[in-house]
Amino acid sequence: MELLRPVDYRKLREEIERLKREKNAVILAHYYQRPEVQDVADFVGDSLDLARKAKEVDAEIIVFCGVHFMGETAKLLNPEKKVLMPEPKAGCAMADTATAEAVLRLKEKHPDAWVVSYVNTTAEVKAVSDVCCTSANAAGIIEKVPSKEVIFVPDKGLAYFISKKVKDKRIVPFEGFCPDHYLFTGRMLERLKERHPGAPVGVHPETPPEVQDAADFVGSTSQLLRWATDPALGADEVVIITEIGLKYQMERRNPSRRYVFPTPEEGTGYLFCPQMKSITLEKVYETLREEKNELTLPEGLVERARRPIELMLEWS
Ligand code: 13P
Ligand code: SF4
Repeated sequence: MELLRPVDYRKLREEIERLKREKNAVILAHYYQRPEVQDVADFVGDSLDLARKAKEVDAEIIVFCGVHFMGETAKLLNPEKKVLMPEPKAGCAMADTATAEAVLRLKEKHPDAWVVSYVNTTAEVKAVSDVCCTSANAAGIIEKVPSKEVIFVPDKGLAYFISKKVKDKRIVPFEGFCPDHYLFTGRMLERLKERHPGAPVGVHPETPPEVQDAADFVGSTSQLLRWATDPALGADEVVIITEIGLKYQMERRNPSRRYVFPTPEEGTGYLFCPQMKSITLEKVYETLREEKNELTLPEGLVERARRPIELMLEWS
């Protein structure tokens, strides 16, 4: 049966490597990608690293293994390059909660406030923002904003994290959240702590306040990776609350430690982003071979949406 045919990953991988050389292409992948997709990537990182890398790469084609806003960011920074999306329908449920109209309505109520948008937003929302941030640089960016009041779009989890770090700004939050991270509860974390007494806990700032408050460390995916794999942490196991894809890099970087993620075996269910996981090695291969699924953006939008990303890169 077609659906059950075995996949020869080694052969696919060789073909992808050959196509990359032939077409002068690079593959960028987020940490939440499937392990076999991370393995063919020239660069794997968090959304800030990927934005920086997208600006630097010297290739004609970028195959972007991540959700739509990440590919858009790469395209905004490289309008002359071909950005291909192996699964063009892979969106970010959180980014979809914010519209440019909703941001402009908030701006009418708070005319002196700067609009800071999380990079997990559409290009239309970025176009009405003053500066962007990611979970890796959010507090530092907000500190640099010249206004006292800041409209922060769309993640209320990250807004909570920022409000704890930056005391002299008034954050006007938005009601957006990540359905994968924000639905992980304090009770679920207690359960993991009971099962792994003494294990340090690291969480992503997209989790709800009660989870952040009960953690030893809160950080972006790359910050969690550094913290959890650092030999100086001196623990046999760590509990990590973010998407399961990050486990692969942790195990590669420091295999002597055990990384406990939410799973059904732990009694919590997976913390799993279906959109990120909809990108498969087969789709990467077909996209590169046929140079299909090119991401395009209207010209007027590119100029306006690039400005806040460039400012973020300048400030971080
Ligand atoms: P990072 O910026 O930490 O990679 O997070 C992106 C994201 O979508 C988390 O859900
Ligand atoms: Fe978006 Fe959440 Fe998936 Fe991250 S994990 S890409 S915030 S839906």
